[in-house]
Amino acid sequence: MKKKIVKGLVRFVLAIAAVLGLFLLYIQFSYKKEFQIPATGIKSSRDAAVIARGRYLVTGPSHCWTCHAADGVTNVQKGTKSGLSGGLEIKLPFGTLYTPNITPDSATGIGSYSDEMLARAIRNSVKHDNTAMVPFMTFNTMSDQDISAIISYLRSIQPINHAVQENDLNILGKIVARFVLKPSQPTSPSYVAPDTTAAYGKYLAVSVANCVGCHTQRGKTGEFIGKEFSGGYQMPVENGVFGTPNLTPDKETGVLTSWTVNDFIQRFETGAAFSNSPMPWKSFQSFTQNDLKALYYFFQSLEPVKNQVPRFTPAKAKSS
Ligand code: HEC
Ligand code: HEC
Repeated sequence: MKKKIVKGLVRFVLAIAAVLGLFLLYIQFSYKKEFQIPATGIKSSRDAAVIARGRYLVTGPSHCWTCHAADGVTNVQKGTKSGLSGGLEIKLPFGTLYTPNITPDSATGIGSYSDEMLARAIRNSVKHDNTAMVPFMTFNTMSDQDISAIISYLRSIQPINHAVQENDLNILGKIVARFVLKPSQPTSPSYVAPDTTAAYGKYLAVSVANCVGCHTQRGKTGEFIGKEFSGGYQMPVENGVFGTPNLTPDKETGVLTSWTVNDFIQRFETGAAFSNSPMPWKSFQSFTQNDLKALYYFFQSLEPVKNQVPRFTPAKAKSS
């Protein structure tokens, strides 16, 4: 009798192990899931004005180099000499990502990718090999024309030969890649005219410069849980934690409430007040005055949200 039970148990455990083994094998062979999505129709151009617009976005408001340079994050307030050669290590619970080289080197960068591959990376978060990206990039709702300008600029810069290693995903990461990651397919404008209106400010804050991504409280998987632009997102640095300020015009807790439009412009021209701030102030120093005006009018137009955020909380001194 007892023997039978033990035998049964052993069989049961073996069956579970076999199923698990098959599942892991299946994940190993299928995690690079490919997505076929409609073409964007976005094309690059050699027009000097288009390239200049792209240069402005890439090096300024959209701060691409802060992630696409191995030393981008550590030099976010100083600037990097590595250009857009990639290789920044992003450590996540499910593996390590290495940002791609986005200079036009044909062996190690984007030189051999089509316009469509590059446009889809920015618009749909799909890589050149049709796999869905871990959504670090926040430009899905950028206009067709601005994406075209960015691609045109990337094609015009000096290629840098710098091989970046492939992402190193653990089993959890492969499961995420197989079942969770999906392309983003938003409705996006074909053109948004730059002017100083709040509407253009919103476009900059959401689709171009990602103010919203840092100045909104977020949950464990990065989802927004606070009111947009009301701050409170906790950003750890070596010696403590920054809390992102509330940009809504609340009289008591909004940081911009007492600022004039000129104060706002000057604040951005000055650059970082904290040398270890994660905000890309260095890139934002190249914002045009008109773009800053638009941002300012947009923040003033928001509904006030009461949310007091401590700017910086030092880490407790370690007792050694
Ligand atoms: C917050 C960090 C971050 C910023 C800012 C950023 N990127 Fe990325 N980018 C990534 C990461 C991470 C990946 C790879 C994701 C993955 O492998 O799942 C990536 C992938 C890409 C790819 C895909 C390349 C391929 O293999 O197909 C392109 C193209 C790209 N980025 C261009 C840009 C451009 C242009 C900008 C600025 C407009 C930019 N990125 C800004 C983090 C960033
Ligand atoms: C990568 C995250 C990140 C992004 C993107 C970001 N911020 Fe910030 N921001 C922070 C953090 C963290 C602080 C607090 C530390 C500091 O003052 O530098 C901050 C501070 C500020 C301050 C207060 C400055 C002061 O001196 O009181 C303003 C204003 C601000 N951000 C506006 C913006 C705007 C506008 C954008 C988009 C154009 C933006 N931020 C994008 C993280 C970010």
